[in-house]
Amino acid sequence: MGQTGNAHRIIVALDVGTRSQALSLVESLPEGQIFKVGLQLFTAEGPTLIQEIAQREKRVFLDLKLHDIPNTIAGAVSMAAGHGVAMMTLHASGGSEMMRRAVEVAADKADAVGRDRPLLLGVTVLTSLKDAELGEIGMPADAAGQVLKLAHLAQSAGMDGIVCSPLELGMVRAEFGREFLVVTPGIRPAWAAAQDQKRIMTPEKALAGGADYLVIGRPITAAPSPGEAFARIRKTLDGADTDPDGEDSA
Ligand code: C5P
Repeated sequence: MGQTGNAHRIIVALDVGTRSQALSLVESLPEGQIFKVGLQLFTAEGPTLIQEIAQREKRVFLDLKLHDIPNTIAGAVSMAAGHGVAMMTLHASGGSEMMRRAVEVAADKADAVGRDRPLLLGVTVLTSLKDAELGEIGMPADAAGQVLKLAHLAQSAGMDGIVCSPLELGMVRAEFGREFLVVTPGIRPAWAAAQDQKRIMTPEKALAGGADYLVIGRPITAAPSPGEAFARIRKTLDGADTDPDGEDSA
């Protein structure tokens, strides 16, 4: 991948509801390389939009947090790989068989259509769940332990990495070293408003803490000039004190 400093580590979250809003954001961010399409936008506009973003020489992170029986997941992952998705998310709690099938079909489909295999990322414990709520759904009231357990399951099933809170980076890196990709949302530059995000970290700290990719939405997309906000963040990343072992695992 052609790399402009650390621009390739920024995933811009397209949390909008229409194709025209999404594409105008993509077009206002010439430095942006990866764009996240989540449930809202995908439900509104479907896979055509993925292709339209990809046609603009951008990579798509399809964040649908899939969770179903292995056969159904295999079908969905195969379709996404066929559309040229670069990265996508699955719930690790869907189990090892579900994740293994996803890894297999992603590789097969990518070979068949002559593209790179999408990176498959496990969602461990939703950060919206508090320890008390974990008990309600039959999980131990220990989010951190559960994150590590599910991350190990994802890794042994052949997944490429996980999504986690920036506050979990230290724990995850201590456990996995650099052999597993880590994507973190909850990123707020010092100059941006926190909005509804509570467990936040600045981009440069998250990068120094071992994140491979940062998911950033409103600090860029709601800025008066998204292009300038992106450049400002990218520059702080270029000057960040990164993990010496971290080279470029992305
Ligand atoms: O606008 P903001 O930077 O808060 O957007 C963050 C993006 O990351 C949103 O698309 C949100 O859904 C996603 N996300 C998150 N926290 C998580 C998981 C995903 O903010 N724990």
